[in-house]
Amino acid sequence: MEKNSIVSINDISKEEILELLKTAAYFEEHPNQKILDGKVIATLFFEPSTRTRLSFETAVNRLGGRIIGFSDPAATSTSKGETLKDTIIMVGNYADVIIMRHYLEGAAKYASEVTDTPIINAGDGAHQHPSQTMLDLYSIYKTQGSLDNLTVTMVGDLKYGRTVHSLLMALSHFNVKFQFVACDELRMPEEFRTFCDRNGIQYTEHREFSAEVINSSDILYMTRVQRERFTDLMEYERVKDLYNLHNAMLADSKPNLRILHPLPRVNEIDQDVDDNPKAYYFQQAKNGLYARQAMICKVLGIKVNQ
Ligand code: CP
Repeated sequence: MEKNSIVSINDISKEEILELLKTAAYFEEHPNQKILDGKVIATLFFEPSTRTRLSFETAVNRLGGRIIGFSDPAATSTSKGETLKDTIIMVGNYADVIIMRHYLEGAAKYASEVTDTPIINAGDGAHQHPSQTMLDLYSIYKTQGSLDNLTVTMVGDLKYGRTVHSLLMALSHFNVKFQFVACDELRMPEEFRTFCDRNGIQYTEHREFSAEVINSSDILYMTRVQRERFTDLMEYERVKDLYNLHNAMLADSKPNLRILHPLPRVNEIDQDVDDNPKAYYFQQAKNGLYARQAMICKVLGIKVNQ
């Protein structure tokens, strides 16, 4: 694998995470610079995206780099049968970094094995979404002042949700207690529960999104039930609206509680929550710009003057 690629949050040590958070804070203060002058960054999105692609592209533009790429694979030679391998080798010939989202788990890792150009995984199927995790960590740190001694409640699609999988792994470096709220069909996968058990990470599981769960949380991480991951649409219809957060449910929540969501949301957070000062999901998405500026510099080996 290309040594600077970030295909999984597990590629980054705790020290590197802390360094990236410091760099993100620096970019929040100084978002416009010419650090990427002369660099070409490719964004290859084989799956739809709003925030991830646009914040990565904004990150490059604000740092003076150039963007190539696509958001519609149907308009590329993929539609003529070109393989992912060939596409990546070709783009690797043109760009200094490849940022890619793909519907297949493991696609980013595979890409990192066929090119010497650094890859940043912008989401691969239900597997990982490390840049989302960096902005989530930055958001948690900014709102809580620490990544330690927190109760983080993850709600909704814990089975297919790549954002919760990545976030759990990243937070395992810190002293965090998890509450997993999901129906049986969308339960946190055994792989992650076993990881917690083996590493002494505390977690509890809940089918009910109760007042007790909400009121003991420092972070409420809501997720969308992802229609696109289901092979059985009847099952999707059965589970899609099981967990909905309304403003009234926050009445007795902790003062420091912040509500995060990777977005897009469908019905899981009612719009009456948006004006609650504990709602943080839009600021969270904005933080993505700074976290992604930091990640691009990292994979290029650019030391940022902080
Ligand atoms: N959170 C996230 O990945 O959003 P997009 O799908 O809009 O990029």
